[in-house]
Amino acid sequence: MPVLVVNVDHIATLRQARLGKEPDPVTGAHLAELAGAQGIIVHLREDRRHIQDKDVELLKTTLKTNLHLEMAATEEMQKIALHTLPHMVCLVPEKRQELTTEGGLNCLGREQELKEFLAPLKKKGIKTSLFIDAEKEQIEAAAQIGTEYIEIHTGHFADAQNTDDQQKEFQKIVTGIEFAQELKLKVNLGHGLNYHNILAFARIPGISEYSIGHSIISRAVFVGIFQAVKQMVDIIAGFTP
Ligand code: PXP
Repeated sequence: MPVLVVNVDHIATLRQARLGKEPDPVTGAHLAELAGAQGIIVHLREDRRHIQDKDVELLKTTLKTNLHLEMAATEEMQKIALHTLPHMVCLVPEKRQELTTEGGLNCLGREQELKEFLAPLKKKGIKTSLFIDAEKEQIEAAAQIGTEYIEIHTGHFADAQNTDDQQKEFQKIVTGIEFAQELKLKVNLGHGLNYHNILAFARIPGISEYSIGHSIISRAVFVGIFQAVKQMVDIIAGFTP
């Protein structure tokens, strides 16, 4: 059965709008756990636009479930991960000007570099994941790098402007999931997933985790975070294994 890992970055986005103390992403994470989230994920960006170092430390010491850390493959982030020891690290590409992570990490030609980057994390028992597009070459590269997980980027599917494009993007993801499983990679999905489009994956076997942030935090503004997380947990619980 797939699990829900809730991304609380955008609680911090709201807090940083006033550079104050509220709303607190750590409190949000605790409520998300009470509502059934099986993990909490944050993206500590180089520019610290939302999540701050202190949030990561507090989450690590107070979560009852698992802390997942999304980060760029930089020396600074590697040091933080080795100090914090999250359950899982997911490597993502990062550009300063982007609104959000715009595409998957390009692993081609970086197999050795990324393998070496992940080695000390793996040695400390941290699970590793690479956020990549559902392309055969990227999945092959991920397998070569030796990561246990990949997270397939669902943003192109979520952003598709018509049914045909959405169907094409969906098919690419399904083919990617099957190929990854042949290569013994565990598969997570994330980016742009919401209460409606996630239903497309209800009958796709072998998905480990859904990493969802924006749609849940947006709904939480109106119904509260407990309700918003619980509604997504209930949807996923209804998926056929
Ligand atoms: N997975 C990754 C790798 C991401 O970068 C993000 C966005 O931070 C998400 C999942 C969550 O995406 P969304 O906020 O659109 O649900």
